[in-house]
Amino acid sequence: MAPSTAVLAAAGCFAVASALHAQSFPGASVGHGFISIPVSADRRAAVLAKRDGSGYSDVSIQNLHISGYTIQIEIGTPPQTLDVAVDTGSVELWVNPNCDRSSLAKNETVNGQTITYGDSVLTDPAECRKRGRYDASKSSTVGDPKIPSQFIVYGGQTTANIDYVSDKISIGGLSVDSQIFGAATDSNQTGIGIMGFGPARGGYNNSGTYPLFLTQLAKSGAIASPAFSLDLRDLDNATGSIVFGGVDKKKYMGALATIPFQTVSRKYSNSDSTYEEHSYYLTVKSMTLVRPDGSTKGYDIGGSFLTSLDCGSANNLLPVGVASAICSDLNGTVTDSVGSCSVDCAARQRPGGVTFGLDGKDILLSYENMIEEFAGSNGQPSTCVVRNSDNVAFVNPFTGILGAPFLRSSYAVFDWGNSNLHIAQAADCGTNIVAIGNGTNSVPSGNSDCTSPAARFVAKFGLALGVAVLSGFALL
Ligand SMILES: *[C@@H]1O[C@H](CO)[C@@H](O)[C@H](O)[C@H]1NC(C)=O
Ligand SMILES: *[C@@H]1O[C@H](CO)[C@@H](O)[C@H](O)[C@H]1NC(C)=O
Ligand SMILES: *[C@@H]1O[C@H](CO)[C@@H](O)[C@H](O)[C@H]1NC(C)=O
Ligand SMILES: *[C@@H]1O[C@H](CO)[C@@H](O)[C@H](O)[C@H]1NC(C)=O
Ligand SMILES: *[C@@H]1O[C@H](CO)[C@@H](O)[C@H](O)[C@H]1NC(C)=O
Ligand SMILES: *[C@@H]1O[C@H](CO)[C@@H](O)[C@H](O)[C@H]1NC(C)=O
Repeated sequence: MAPSTAVLAAAGCFAVASALHAQSFPGASVGHGFISIPVSADRRAAVLAKRDGSGYSDVSIQNLHISGYTIQIEIGTPPQTLDVAVDTGSVELWVNPNCDRSSLAKNETVNGQTITYGDSVLTDPAECRKRGRYDASKSSTVGDPKIPSQFIVYGGQTTANIDYVSDKISIGGLSVDSQIFGAATDSNQTGIGIMGFGPARGGYNNSGTYPLFLTQLAKSGAIASPAFSLDLRDLDNATGSIVFGGVDKKKYMGALATIPFQTVSRKYSNSDSTYEEHSYYLTVKSMTLVRPDGSTKGYDIGGSFLTSLDCGSANNLLPVGVASAICSDLNGTVTDSVGSCSVDCAARQRPGGVTFGLDGKDILLSYENMIEEFAGSNGQPSTCVVRNSDNVAFVNPFTGILGAPFLRSSYAVFDWGNSNLHIAQAADCGTNIVAIGNGTNSVPSGNSDCTSPAARFVAKFGLALGVAVLSGFALL
C-alpha cells in the first residue's frame, strides 16, 4: 500500500489491515550472497454474520477483507521475534501496533439490515497480541538516532505514530547493525507492523532521512547489491518468498524482461514547484481479456497508464471503467461506484485471465489470482470478489496500482542499483537461487530453468489449454 491519504481509501485500495498469519516458517535458506525468506499468506476469511441470522448478503464484503504477506524478523540483542507485513508500496519499517485500536469490526446497515463485519487475522486485537512486540528496554544494542517522530498515513486509513530507534535487525540469519526503524506509540486499523520495501521517495541512491534496510544489507556485503526478488505464489499457496540479493530461476517462465522504473512528477501541495516521486512505477500499455476458450478482447485504457507495483494493496487500481468492464466480462455484479465486483466462484477455476502488456513483457493475471474466495460462516456458501478497483481518485497525474493479485501471477526482481524491474510470468518448477551481482547487468539474464512451459497452467488445465491460454507469450 502506498502511504498516502484518503485518495487511496476512496479508490478501494486497502491497507495492510488484512488476512495475514504468522506461521512457523519452514526456515530461511542462506546461500552464497543471497537469503531466501519464506513469505506467509493467509486469506482466512473474516466473519460475516447478519445480526438477524436470516441468510447472507455479500454487499460490501469486498471492502473489508484483504490478503497480505508477512515475514518474521528479529530485533535487538538478544533477538526479539516479530511478524511484519511486507509492503512494496511504502518505505519504512515500524513495529508495535496498538492492538486496542487494530480492529476494523463494525456494524453496518444495508437495505435496512444490519451486517456485522468481523476482523481478519490482521486486525483482530487478540491476533495482534500474539505477533510479538519489540521491547527496547530488553535490548543491549538499542540506540537513539535522534530523528523527529513521524505520523504515517497509509491507504485504507491505517495510521501510525512512530518514534525512531536503532537496533540490530536480522532477517533469515542476515543482520544489519544499528538499523533505524519506528516503534509505534499509537496506530489505527492494523494489528501488525509494516516493513516497507519501496525505494526512498527521493530515489534509489538517496537514503531519504536515513539509510534503508536493503541499502545497509548491501553495504555490509551480505548481498552484492541492493536488490530482491518477490515470489508471492498463487493465491491458494500459503508460502511464497522474498529473496534478498538473489533470483530463483525456477520460479518463472521464459526470460525476465528488464524494465526501467519511472518517476512521476508531482506538485507540492502548497507551492507550484514539482518533485520527482520514486516508487516502483512502470507503464501498462495494454490490457486484454483472455476468455476461458482462449479468445481475447482488448480494454480501453486510454492509451497507456502509469502504475506502481504494490504488494501491500489487495486490489489492482485501474483506469476509470476498466474494473467494471472486467467484472461484466466475468459475468459478475458491480456492487459499488469503485467497480467492486462479486462473481460466481466457479470463475476462479477457469483458464484465462487478463493480460497486462508492459514494456517488453506480457503478464497474464489468471482468474484464479484475480478472484478471491471467502468462506461463508454457519454453512453459508462462499462468496467471491474480483480484486480490481476503478480509479475514482483525484491525484494528478493518475497512477494505478498493480497490487498483490498481479504480483501473485508474476515473478518480480527489484534492482535498486540499476533502478530496474525484472519481471516474468510466475511458475514453480523447483528451486535454483542464483546470486545477483553488482554492476549494470547484475541480475542473471537468460531463460528460466523451468523447461516445461506454463508449469502452473499445465498442471491445472492440461497441456492443450495451458498452451492455448498462454499462446502469444514469449515462453522459452
Ligand atoms: C455490533 O452489534 C452487536 C449487537 O448489538 C454488538 O454486540 C457488537 O459489539 C457490535 N459490534 C461493533 C463492532 O460495533
Ligand atoms: C487513532 O484513532 C483515534 C480515534 O479516532 C485518534 O484519537 C488517534 O489519534 C488515532 N491515532 C493515530 C496514530 O492515528
Ligand atoms: C541516482 O540515481 C539516478 C537514477 O535514479 C541517477 O540518474 C543518478 O545519476 C544517480 N546518482 C548517483 C550519485 O549515483
Ligand atoms: C505451494 O508451493 C510449494 C513450493 O513450491 C509446493 O510444494 C506446494 O505443492 C504448493 N502448494 C499448493 C497448494 O499449490
Ligand atoms: C461468462 O458467461 C459465459 C456465458 O455463460 C461463459 O461462456 C463464460 O465462460 C463466462 N465467463 C467466465 C469468466 O466465467
Ligand atoms: C554495488 O554495491 C554498492 C554497495 O552496496 C551499491 O551502493 C551499488 O548500488 C551497487 N551497484 C549496483 C549497480 O547494484
